[in-house]
Amino acid sequence: MCLMQHIIARAKADKQRIVLPEGTEERTLTAADRAIADGLAEIILIGDPDTIHRQADAAGLEHIAAATIINPTKHPKRAAYAYLLHDLRKAKGMTQDDAFRFVQNPLYLGCLIIKAGDADGEIAGALNTTGNVLRPALQIIKTQQSVTCASGAFLMLLSDASYGEDGVMLFADCAVIPDPSVEELAGIALSTASTAQALTGVEPRIAMLSYSTKGSGTANDKMAEAVLRTKSLSPSLLIDGELQADAALVPTVAARKAPSSSVAGQANVLVFPNLSAANIGYKLVERLAHAEAIGPILQGMAAPVNDLSRGCSSDDIYKMIAITANQARISKG
Ligand code: ACO
Repeated sequence: MCLMQHIIARAKADKQRIVLPEGTEERTLTAADRAIADGLAEIILIGDPDTIHRQADAAGLEHIAAATIINPTKHPKRAAYAYLLHDLRKAKGMTQDDAFRFVQNPLYLGCLIIKAGDADGEIAGALNTTGNVLRPALQIIKTQQSVTCASGAFLMLLSDASYGEDGVMLFADCAVIPDPSVEELAGIALSTASTAQALTGVEPRIAMLSYSTKGSGTANDKMAEAVLRTKSLSPSLLIDGELQADAALVPTVAARKAPSSSVAGQANVLVFPNLSAANIGYKLVERLAHAEAIGPILQGMAAPVNDLSRGCSSDDIYKMIAITANQARISKG
């Protein structure tokens, strides 16, 4: 059984309630129908019920009838969610009128449904930008207490099994923090280690990537500082840096450049120095090495919210429902 099949099987074994705020979007509806048919998750669609049913009928999606549909403009808990939002954001200047307006926005409503305990996780982004998906999640759901910042990892499934753990790797932060500080890099490393353990079950070996290996470059490297900071927070974690990508991945290069490292040459988690490097890095590997890139998986949140690429397929959404359900199961303990 491949890793994705394991993730799907674990989601089916403990069904979670997943909100899809883009409930009238075609790929989302197709993925929702398949998820219901397969028993992957309980699906909550946000959108106009008549439109959803009409689209489902036209596309022959027979299982949508079993989804819970929430109309953002009129539903019984609208006022309760608006008061909850006002309570959470009044210190930031949100008025009650603002809250009643925001609660009609499916992306805010989805997060409020989770915050109120009426769902376990959310996926959006087939229609909306990353910023618009993440902002309500960061404002309403917020990070876990022990986590300083949210970040985004990609699960990379490589065709060459000699890299990572039988070809499985995690790359971060590919989605959230444009220019992370040392403290934020440590947070990204810790969260990605948790994601790696939760999704793959293997011990993470984290390489903090740079243009330099162990001081070979000229500048003071923030990745080396981030290693020290991470180790101070989690002394048993296998983490090293700064490392160049070849030293992190290739045993013969590691033997020359970082011979005493417990991570070099066998890294299965790569943490990049900034969002540009990480985002470019995962796309290069996806395209040039024909890897499957699953994500971004938002990590560190109190409850899982995941963002989709606007170019995603319904299969991508289906897989993300499985991943979100796993995150939800784990975050509940
Ligand atoms: N972790 C935790 N909380 C955060 C984080 C973070 N990384 N970033 C922002 N926040 C919180 C803030 O503290 C703030 O909370 P508050 O209002 O309760 O005080 C709230 O989120 C909003 O923060 P702002 O800085 O005002 O939010 P902003 O509008 O700048 O948006 C965002 C934050 C959306 C994450 C922004 O940094 C962003 O757009 N990042 C890049 C996203 C992107 O384009 N990624 C690449 C996409 S491609 C791909 O994913 C494959």
